[in-house]
Amino acid sequence: MVGKYGAKTYVNKFIAQGRSNIVLLSLKTMKILHFLAIFLLCGVISSHAKTHHQTYVVTDTPYSRLCSNKSILTVNGKFPGPTIRVTEGDTIAIVVVNRAKENITIHWHGVKQPRYPWSDGPEYITQCPIRPGTNFSQKIVLSDEIGTMWWHAHSDWSRATVHGALIVYPRIKDDYPFPVPDEEVPIIIGEWWKSDIFAVLNEFLANGGGPNSSDAYMLNGQPGDLYPCSKKDTFKLTVEHGKRYLIRMVNAVMDNIMFFRIAGHNVTIVGSDGAYLKPFTSNYIAISPGQTIDFLFVADQNPSHYYMASRAYAVAGAFSNTTTTARVEYAGNYTPPASPELPILPNFTDTAASVNFTARFRSLAYKNHPINVPLDVTTNLLFTLSINTRNCPNSDCEGPNGNRLLASVNNITWQSPGIAILQAYYESVNGVYEDNFPSNPPFPFNYTAAVVPQDLWEPQNGTRVRMLDFNATVELVFQGTSTARSPLDHPMHLHGHSFYVVGWGYGNFNSTRDPPNYNLIDPPLQNTIAVPRAGWTAIRFVANNPGVWLMHCHFERHISWGMEMTFITRNGKGPNDKMLPPPSDFPMC
Ligand code: C2O
Ligand code: CU
Repeated sequence: MVGKYGAKTYVNKFIAQGRSNIVLLSLKTMKILHFLAIFLLCGVISSHAKTHHQTYVVTDTPYSRLCSNKSILTVNGKFPGPTIRVTEGDTIAIVVVNRAKENITIHWHGVKQPRYPWSDGPEYITQCPIRPGTNFSQKIVLSDEIGTMWWHAHSDWSRATVHGALIVYPRIKDDYPFPVPDEEVPIIIGEWWKSDIFAVLNEFLANGGGPNSSDAYMLNGQPGDLYPCSKKDTFKLTVEHGKRYLIRMVNAVMDNIMFFRIAGHNVTIVGSDGAYLKPFTSNYIAISPGQTIDFLFVADQNPSHYYMASRAYAVAGAFSNTTTTARVEYAGNYTPPASPELPILPNFTDTAASVNFTARFRSLAYKNHPINVPLDVTTNLLFTLSINTRNCPNSDCEGPNGNRLLASVNNITWQSPGIAILQAYYESVNGVYEDNFPSNPPFPFNYTAAVVPQDLWEPQNGTRVRMLDFNATVELVFQGTSTARSPLDHPMHLHGHSFYVVGWGYGNFNSTRDPPNYNLIDPPLQNTIAVPRAGWTAIRFVANNPGVWLMHCHFERHISWGMEMTFITRNGKGPNDKMLPPPSDFPMC
C-alpha cells in the first residue's frame, strides 16, 4: 500500500533519470524493468518506513489569553497541539482518547490516506464522532506527501483549538531541493475567542447571520504585543546572523485568508500543502485557512529586533481588523530598539495581493521531481460556489433582508446525514445519500455579474455525492458567484488527494477560451486552493484513491452554511485498487 503510492514518484524518477539508456531497450524489457523497479522499490521503502505510535488525549483544559480565562478543547493539554515529525512514507498509529465533554474527530489535512478513508476524520462523512469516554485508533499511512501538513478536529468548530503541525522529512536527511536550512520553525496562525467556541457556533446557527469574529489572531498560540496581556509570552524566534531558517507555516484560522510579513526581510517560498514549489522571493505571504506554506529566510539584516505580523485579507462581512505579532530577535550584543519595526502588510481588501501571491506557485517539475498532471480528462466537472439566502419565518434572521445565510456547491446546500456516508456506502444502507450530485450548475446564469437577481440566491438542500470511477481523470472547475452580493474568495479543500491547479481567472470560466491557457507544464500540487472572488480555478486530479472524500470550503462559516459535497471513488479491479476494511474500534453511528 505504501509502495503503491509512495513508490510512484520514485519509479518516475528512475524512469526519468534512466531515459537515455532505456531508449535502447525493447519495449518488453522496459516493461520487465519497470515492474522490477516497482518491486524493488516497494521493498526498499517498506523496510525503511517507520510506524510512530502516539496517544492524543482530548480534554477540556483551562487556558488564559487577553487577560481572560476559559476552558478550551486541547490535545495532550497543548495549544496549539503537538507537532508530529515523521519521514516520507512512514505510518502514524494514533489512539485518540476522548476525555472531554464534547464529541471529537481528528482529520489529517493533506494526507491522502490511500484506500483507507476510515482514518480521514470528517464527522458524518467518514465517521461518527468519537464520543466522550471512548477511543479511536487511527492509522495514517503517508505516501508521497513531503513538507508541512497539519491535523485538526473535524467536528463542529473544535478545530479552533484542536490543531497542530505535521512535518514530513525527506527519506534522505536534508535532501531538499533548496538550500539546507540551519533551523526550522513551525508557525501556526490561530485565533482566540473570549467566548466559548461552541457558544459562538450556536449563536451563529441560531441567528442566521455571520459569526462573531475572534478577539485575537495568534502566532504559535500568542496574540502578541498589540493586544493586552500578551507581552511576556509572545512568540520569539532568536536567530543568529547569517543563518537560514525554514518556516513551516500553517493557517489554522477559521474564516480568513491571512497576510504575513517579517519586517526588513524577504522570504523565499519553497513549498506548500505537502509538495515542493519552484523557489520564489516575496516580501509577504498570503495563506488560506487549511493551507500550509514552507518558506526560507536568512538572518542577513542588522542585528536587531524585528516584528513578524499577520492580519486578515477580507473584502466583506464583519472581520477582526487586528494584527498579531511575534518577534525575530538577533542574538549578540547590541542595543535593541524600544519598539521594533512593524512590517507593512497589504491592505485588508487587497485581492490582487492575495491572488497574485498564490498565482506564482509552480511545481518543481524537474526530472528528479517529476509531475503527473493528467492530460486526458475523462470527467469534466463545473461546480459553482455560492453564498445563498433563504427566508426566515418572520424575516428575523441576521442575513440580508432578514433572511438566513447559507452556502452551496452547484446550488446544493449540504445536509449532514444521520450516519456517516462512508458507513452507508460500505454497508449499502439506503436512504442516507443520493448519488446524483450534478456535474454542472443546475441552471446557468452570469455567475459573476455585478448584480445577480435575488431569485437566484436560494439553494436546494441535498445530501448528494458524485461517484467517480477508479482512475478517472478529473478536471474540476470551481466557479465563484456573486449571489447574495457576496463575491468572495473560497479556499477549496479536497480530502484524499492533492490536485494540480492548472488555471484560474476572473469572471466566468469559458470552456473554449480558457483551457488553452492552462499550465500543464509545472502547475502546483495543492490540497487547498483559494478560488479568486468573482473568478474561477481549474484543478485536475486522478481518482486513484477508492473511498469517500469530502470536498469543502475551508472557511468554517461556509462549511456550516453547506458549502461542501462528497466524492465517492469506486473500487478498481486489481486487488490493490480496493478500499481496505475498517478498523475494529471504528466509531460507527
Ligand atoms: Cu482541513 Cu476537511 O479539512
Ligand atoms: Cu467559502
